[in-house]
Amino acid sequence: MTDPAPGTPRPGFRHKPTLDGDLVRLRPVTADDVPALLPLFTDPEVSRLTGSHEGETYDEEALRTWYGSRGDQDDRLDLAVVERATGRVIGEVVLNLWDRHNESCSFRIGFVPGTHGRGLGTEATRLIVGHGFEQLGLHRISLEVYAFNPRARRVYEKVGFTPEGTLRDALLWQGRRVDATLMSLLAPDWHHHRGRP
Ligand SMILES: CC(C)(COP(=O)(O)OP(=O)(O)OC[C@H]1O[C@@H](n2cnc3c(N)ncnc32)[C@H](O)[C@@H]1OP(=O)(O)O)[C@@H](O)C(=O)NCCC(=O)NCCS
Repeated sequence: MTDPAPGTPRPGFRHKPTLDGDLVRLRPVTADDVPALLPLFTDPEVSRLTGSHEGETYDEEALRTWYGSRGDQDDRLDLAVVERATGRVIGEVVLNLWDRHNESCSFRIGFVPGTHGRGLGTEATRLIVGHGFEQLGLHRISLEVYAFNPRARRVYEKVGFTPEGTLRDALLWQGRRVDATLMSLLAPDWHHHRGRP
C-alpha cells in the first residue's frame, strides 16, 4: 500500500475498498455475511473479550439491516475479513467514531471462534490501519483493550499501537470489574514503520 501522490484527492469513508494481504482479504461487509458473523454475537467468550453485554439478545433481522447498510455510511468503514485459503468470512474490522476535525478514529476487530492465533488478526489490523493512515489521511487511530485479553493486546503492539493509560474498572463483567488499556497509533509512526515497529 502506498500514499496517494501529493495533490491527489483522498477517497474518503464513502469509498469501501477491498484490501488484500497474504492470508486475508478485507472487503465491504454485506447483509449476506450475517450467518458467518453471528458467532461474534452469540459466542460467550467473544462477548467477554469484546465486553458485549448484549449477549444472546441479538436479532438476526436487525443484524441484516445493520450490515446491509454499512456500505452507505460516509463516516465509518466496516469490512468483512475473508480467510483467503478457504474463502470463509471469519470476522470484521471497523474504523468508527470518526472525529473529522482532529483526524482521528477508533478501531475494533473481532473474529469468530476457531480462527484465532494464526496470524490473521495481525494482518487484518495492518491492512485496515494502513488504509486509515495512507488513504483516509487519519492522524490518530485508537482502541481500548481489556486486561483479560492479552492476545488482542499483543496484536495491537505488534502493529505499533502504544499504551496511553488505564481506564480503571471500565467494564463490569459477571460481577468483576476489569480495567481497559487505551492504545493509539499515530500517522508519523505508521509512516515510519508501516505496522512493523
Ligand atoms: C483479537 C483477535 C482479532 C486477534 O487475531 P488473531 O488472528 O487471533 O491474532 P494473531 O494470530 O495475528 O496474533 C496473536 C498474537 O497473540 C499472541 N498470544 C496469543 N495468546 C496470548 C496470550 N494469552 N498472551 C499473550 N500473547 C498471546 C500470539 O502468540 C500472537 O503473537 P506472536 O505472533 O508474537 O506469536 C482475535 O483473536 C479475536 O477476534 N479474538 C476475539 C475477539 C477479540 O478479542 N477482539 C478484540 C477486542 S479488543
